[in-house]
Amino acid sequence: MAEPAPVPILQVVGVHKAFGGHAVLRGIDLDIAEGRITVIIGGSGSGKSVLIKHLVALLRPDRGEVRFRGRDIFAMGDAELLGVRRHFGMLFQNSALFDSMDVYENVAFPLREHQRLRPAQERELVLDALHALKLGHAVHKFPGELSGGMRKRVALARATILRPEILIYDEPTTGLDPVMIKQVDDMIAETQERLHVTSVVISHDMASTFRIAHHVAMLYQGQIIESGTPAEFRASPNPIVRDFIFVSGTGPLQVLAAGAP
Ligand SMILES: Nc1ncnc2c1ncn2[C@@H]1O[C@H](COP(=O)(O)OP(=O)(O)OP(=O)(O)O)[C@@H](O)[C@H]1O
Ligand SMILES: [Mg+2]
Repeated sequence: MAEPAPVPILQVVGVHKAFGGHAVLRGIDLDIAEGRITVIIGGSGSGKSVLIKHLVALLRPDRGEVRFRGRDIFAMGDAELLGVRRHFGMLFQNSALFDSMDVYENVAFPLREHQRLRPAQERELVLDALHALKLGHAVHKFPGELSGGMRKRVALARATILRPEILIYDEPTTGLDPVMIKQVDDMIAETQERLHVTSVVISHDMASTFRIAHHVAMLYQGQIIESGTPAEFRASPNPIVRDFIFVSGTGPLQVLAAGAP
């Protein structure tokens, strides 16, 4: 007999959100599978950032639920919600590093906020994280001295230092050159494999999406209009999905070149 499907680690159920009469999310349903990479795509302004801010309770839905392991996070008390949020790591669209702190201090920051470690323990954790992301030479550099790709890696080291179960990346590759995009994609895939972390990635780059995704969902006019494996996604008959794949410069040849399964 087939195994029952595992409960998704995160479930978005019927989420609506409007700002001043402008409906941005209009009934979002989405399951996020544990230990996998889910990529959410959609045009600029389609509500991708608004959607993922609901996952970490930075925004509250007008209607609907976000469930973490089956429990609605918006029905939780403050203490329980705070506990749940510690399972999340988030990479914001602009990396959001502290400019006045060097790389070491940026990465140590969550440890100092949430854990009381001896200096030697802290140092070991931070340096391990930096070495794993090939930042060993940049420990005492400041964000202003780093390239965009290095800043993303520092942000990732900071987001993973507390060993979150879920990592959320808001457009990690936007504004990077193609070589750097490949490096960041590799970094996301390696992090997922190394830490078995559930990853949610926002993107509007189809080549990147097909390179890393186990599951793809597309947001359009406030709803998820397509959701499935990369192969299912590529086979979508929906003309809006097909246009998005094509206009994003990822026709069949580019998809193959991107190493799609
Ligand atoms: N706090 C807010 N108050 C009012 N309107 C908002 C707020 N946050 C987002 N919006 C609006 O919601 C819509 C969706 O914004 P969002 O940032 O989610 O888009 P996006 O899909 O992430 O776009 P991009 O790819 O450009 O980052 C936009 O019209 C935006 O102006
Ligand atoms: Mg956004």
